[in-house]
Amino acid sequence: MKGVILAGGSGTRLHPLTRITNKHLLPIYDRPMISYAIESLVISGITEIMLVTGGTHAGEFLRLLGNGDEYGIDRLLYAYQERAGGIAEALGLAMRFVGEDDVLVMLADNIVEQTFLPTVERFAEQGKGARILLSEQENPEHLRHLGVPEFDADGKIVRIIEKPEHPPSPYAVTGIYCYDASVFEIIGGLVPSGRGELEITDVNNWYVDQGSMAYDVLEGFWGDAGESIQAYYEVNDFVRRNGVNKT
Ligand code: DAU
Repeated sequence: MKGVILAGGSGTRLHPLTRITNKHLLPIYDRPMISYAIESLVISGITEIMLVTGGTHAGEFLRLLGNGDEYGIDRLLYAYQERAGGIAEALGLAMRFVGEDDVLVMLADNIVEQTFLPTVERFAEQGKGARILLSEQENPEHLRHLGVPEFDADGKIVRIIEKPEHPPSPYAVTGIYCYDASVFEIIGGLVPSGRGELEITDVNNWYVDQGSMAYDVLEGFWGDAGESIQAYYEVNDFVRRNGVNKT
């Protein structure tokens, strides 16, 4: 399985911090944010990785990560996203790198207390389709800034709603997704949303409609450090107190 880490976007919710650097290079406790996503993939056994980034600070990633050997990466490739055209657009840039393999995609502003090797293993058994990680949230207000699944009586996802005004469940769709290689055909057929982006939620709903979307619920803390300045500091506090990427 290949890994794709998405570290593009414009980071406007963390302005003015992100006027001077890429969001994923900001510190989380004692390391740049991007290091946590890399570590969690490597711990989960994924060592062929493409990093997608954009904007004016892309060169800094090379300076930080180099060829990736210090991080336990076997093969590290980079792609440059010309404009923040959406998560699905950024993933589309990895098409040739992924080829016919499965891919695990992680948004570089997501931080997990527990790594996700069990999900990688279950997806390998699943064989095709998609598998996403959900995280139960206490605060429904928080869910209004995220993707939220709606379930049927058997606990099957029937729809994912992006940034819902009335969240249909207490679960957030985290930025960790497993896909088979058909994901690139789906991306090719997407149309931009109202905000002009190719949405990952449209990709996920395609798999939901095909009946091939599975999920796991992530144990422990999950944070989206790019959601707001408040969330950025909550994630920092958690990492400093408890540590993350545990197995
Ligand atoms: O963090 C989980 C959430 O991430 C999910 O619950 C949502 O369903 C999903 O849409 C996404 O929502 P966000 O509002 O957090 O997405 P955002 O635009 O902040 O992008 C998240 C990451 O994706 C960002 O850290 C870098 C990457 N990205 C984003 C865009 C728009 C790119 O690499 N390129 C892009 O063009």
